[in-house]
Amino acid sequence: MYAEKVLSGMRPTGRLHLGHYHGVLKNWVRLQHEYPCLFFVADWHALTTDYDQPGGIVNNAWEMIIDWLASGVDPAQATLFVQSQVPEHAELHLLLSMMSPLGWLERVPTYKDQQEKLSQKDLTTYGFLGYPLLQAADILIYRADKVPVGEDQVPHIEFTREIARRFNHLYGREPGFEEKAREAVKKLGNKRARLYDDLRNRFQEKGEAEALEQAHALLGEAQSLSHGDRERLFGFLEGGGKMILVEPGALLTEASRMPGLDGQKMSKSYGNTITLREDADSITKKIRTMQTDPQRVRRTDPGEPEKCPVWQFHVIYSNDEVHQWVQQGCRSAGIGCIECKQPVIDAVLKEQEPMRERARMYEEEPQLVRSIIADGCEKARKLAQETMRDVREAMGLDYSR
Ligand code: TRP
Ligand code: SF4
Repeated sequence: MYAEKVLSGMRPTGRLHLGHYHGVLKNWVRLQHEYPCLFFVADWHALTTDYDQPGGIVNNAWEMIIDWLASGVDPAQATLFVQSQVPEHAELHLLLSMMSPLGWLERVPTYKDQQEKLSQKDLTTYGFLGYPLLQAADILIYRADKVPVGEDQVPHIEFTREIARRFNHLYGREPGFEEKAREAVKKLGNKRARLYDDLRNRFQEKGEAEALEQAHALLGEAQSLSHGDRERLFGFLEGGGKMILVEPGALLTEASRMPGLDGQKMSKSYGNTITLREDADSITKKIRTMQTDPQRVRRTDPGEPEKCPVWQFHVIYSNDEVHQWVQQGCRSAGIGCIECKQPVIDAVLKEQEPMRERARMYEEEPQLVRSIIADGCEKARKLAQETMRDVREAMGLDYSR
């Protein structure tokens, strides 16, 4: 049975914080039970903007991977790997670059946005322009169906789909496609072949999307097919030629509601984070000294939770009963701010307990992390190599024959 594949990557930023946990990692942990998942460290991507300071990449990668593991990403369920250890990504990036129109890259909104945002850096580089294409290679090389990303990354997924489409259009037309496809239909066996033809007609003549979906499922279940024949039959359904690269869809991750200690978005560059695996004293101190409603100067002044970053934490961490207690106590000056913060402190510490527990093993034995990544890279590489064989062949670079 063909299962849809999920793939996502993160640049190696070092220690992750609660914003990453609530925004991304909890989602990964959920997905790993539902799909075959590939999660990787996008270390080459880090160099597209920080090529002048490469020193921290490796260490940041290991720290980040420990945070993934601490958050419950499970190497027995998901494949964890590092981009630069699967050099096939670079080969695909290169080959795709041959057919990527410059205008498409220049028009990706993050290109200009990031150049403006990071104006202190010189980002008029070849590598930076190619960022979305490298990301496309990351995705297409695994024929990933679903890519969990935040809103800002959606244009990159759309770009990836366009590249896949263009690739299939340019290189999916092999000589004698139609005959080969008909031969492949026969290999499905009588019953399935009839069903396939029927579904294909319904899709092509009446545009029934459901028929297309059923045909995809049928091909997914047909085990005896070679990879090439399977691609032909996928392509044959919709006309055209072989579907060598798969168009992925974005799995939109809801924006994290996790605010920083000062009420702005939690972000390392604002210095308002609580990191995962942070020690308990430090967390306690950070929350105790967190800003509150600025109008509430003295203990006897009433406050307004809506104007207080601590309330945002309660929204995430506390139940209705505590919410009521805060709202009433704050507005009537019935509770003090330190009192109000205690349930938040308790909840954050409780959330981190299992994380610290899981991380301890890996901190004490870094070799464990190394071997998880070595296994993951090996698995990823096998998949990447399969795709590359087809890509090279399609682009006229097969020297094995
Ligand atoms: N560009 C992504 C980010 O900044 C990271 C990334 C690189 C990625 N390659 C990817 C995400 C492939 C998903 C799939 O967050
Ligand atoms: Fe903020 Fe709580 Fe103090 Fe009110 S009582 S200002 S919600 S910390």
